Amino acid sequence: MSNPLRIGLAGLGTVGASVIRLLKRQADALTSRTARRIEVVAVSARDRGRDRGVDLADVEWLDDPVALARHEGVDIFVELIGGADGPALDAVTAALAAGRSCVTANKALLAKHGLRLARLAEEKGAALSFEASVAGGIPIVKTLREGLAGNQIERVYGVLNGTCNYILSRMEQERLSFADCLAEAQRLGYAEADPTFDVGGFDTAHKLAILTSLAFGTAIDAEAVNVEGIESIRLADLEAADELGYRVKLLGVARRTPDGIEQRVHPTMVPKSSSVAQVMGVTNAVTIDADAVHELTLVGPGAGGEATASAVVADIADIARGVRSKPFGLPVAALARAEPAPMQLHLGGYYIRLCAFDRPGAAAAIASRFAERDISLESIVQRRRPGVGAGPAGTAPVILITYATHEKTLREALEAAVADGFLAEKPQFIRIERE
Ligand code: HSE
Repeated sequence: MSNPLRIGLAGLGTVGASVIRLLKRQADALTSRTARRIEVVAVSARDRGRDRGVDLADVEWLDDPVALARHEGVDIFVELIGGADGPALDAVTAALAAGRSCVTANKALLAKHGLRLARLAEEKGAALSFEASVAGGIPIVKTLREGLAGNQIERVYGVLNGTCNYILSRMEQERLSFADCLAEAQRLGYAEADPTFDVGGFDTAHKLAILTSLAFGTAIDAEAVNVEGIESIRLADLEAADELGYRVKLLGVARRTPDGIEQRVHPTMVPKSSSVAQVMGVTNAVTIDADAVHELTLVGPGAGGEATASAVVADIADIARGVRSKPFGLPVAALARAEPAPMQLHLGGYYIRLCAFDRPGAAAAIASRFAERDISLESIVQRRRPGVGAGPAGTAPVILITYATHEKTLREALEAAVADGFLAEKPQFIRIERE
C-alpha cells in the first residue's frame, strides 16, 4: 500500500464538516477503491472554538488558508471557503503554484478565474477538480467531461439552484409568498450567504458557465451569460402556467446556435411532462441533448452538506487513484473562444401576461401588434375573474403563448402594445423551453 494521501481542508462550514465525516465513514471502502489511505491532516477555518460535530483532536489547525495550501505535509488542498476572490483565490493559487492538487466546490471562483487556474494546474501537473461546484451531489462534471466524450453536445440545461427551485415549488404548491419561501430556504441552509446570489440567478450563472465550457470545449466565460432572477415571478404566473400545462423553473441553458453559443439564466416555462419540470424542492436536474446519446437527464440533490461532500470525496478519490483530467476536458490552449449569441437573436416561444384595461378592442389591438410582426400565437386567453392573473379593478388579464419568434421581435411587439395605452401594468414575459 502507498503512503496515506494527506488532505488539508480549508473552510469548516456545513460542507467541510460533512467531508470530514464522510471520509471517516467511508475510510475502509475508499482505501479499497483507491489503494491509498485518505487522511485529513490539517484544517483551517475562522472560528477554532465552534463545535462542528467532528473530531479534530489529531488534526493540525492553521489560521491562514494560504499557509495550509503551501503546507509541505499536505498532498491535496480542499478549498471550501467560498467567494470568487480573497482567501479562496489566494489559497488555491498558492496550492497549484506549489504543484499541489486542489479540490474545490467554489463555482464563483471558477466562473471568474477558472481559465487562469486551469492553466496554472496544467503547468504544474496538478489536478484542479470541482465536481461539487455544480449541482451538488450530481456527478455532472464527470458526465460531461468523461462520460459523453463520444458526443457532440447541442444543449445543456437544468435546474441548478436548489434555493430558487425550493421557492418556486413552495409558492406553487402552498400558495405562499416569495419572501416566506426564501426565509424557509435560508433556515434550511440551502441559500448562499447572500441570497441575492440565488434569487438573482448569479449562482446558476456561475454553474452554467462551468457546464458550458465542459459541454462545448470553450473557454469559460461567465460574463457572456445573460442573467435574470426569479424576483419578478408572481403567483399569477405559476397559476397560469399550471392551467396551460407548464411549470416555471429557473433554468440555466447553454445551446449551440448558428449565431454562437447561447448562455442564459432566467425563469422559464417548461412543459409539465419534461424531466426538469418534475424536479421539485431543493433537487437539481441537468438535461443534455447530444448526437449519440440523444437526451440524458441527471436528477439529484443540488445542495446540502452530505450531497456536496459526496462530490468532493469523489474528486479526492480520483486524485488518490492518480487520475489527472484536464479541468475543462481539454488542454487550456485548445479551449475555443465561444462566440456569444446575442439574446436579441434568441429564438423560442414566449408566455406573456398582460394586464389590459377591460375596454372594447383591447385584446384585438394587442393581438394585431403580434400579427403585424408575424408572431404566431399558440393561444390567447382573456379572462376576468378572481384568482388566475387577477389585476386591479377595471382590468383583465390577457395571457398569450407564442410560437417560436425572435426576442427582438417579441420585445418590439410588447413595446408597441404598451404605446397603444391599453395596458395597466408593465408586461410580464417568460421564455418557454421545449424538450
Ligand atoms: N445556494 C446553492 C443552491 C447551494 O441553492 O443551490 C449549492 O450551490
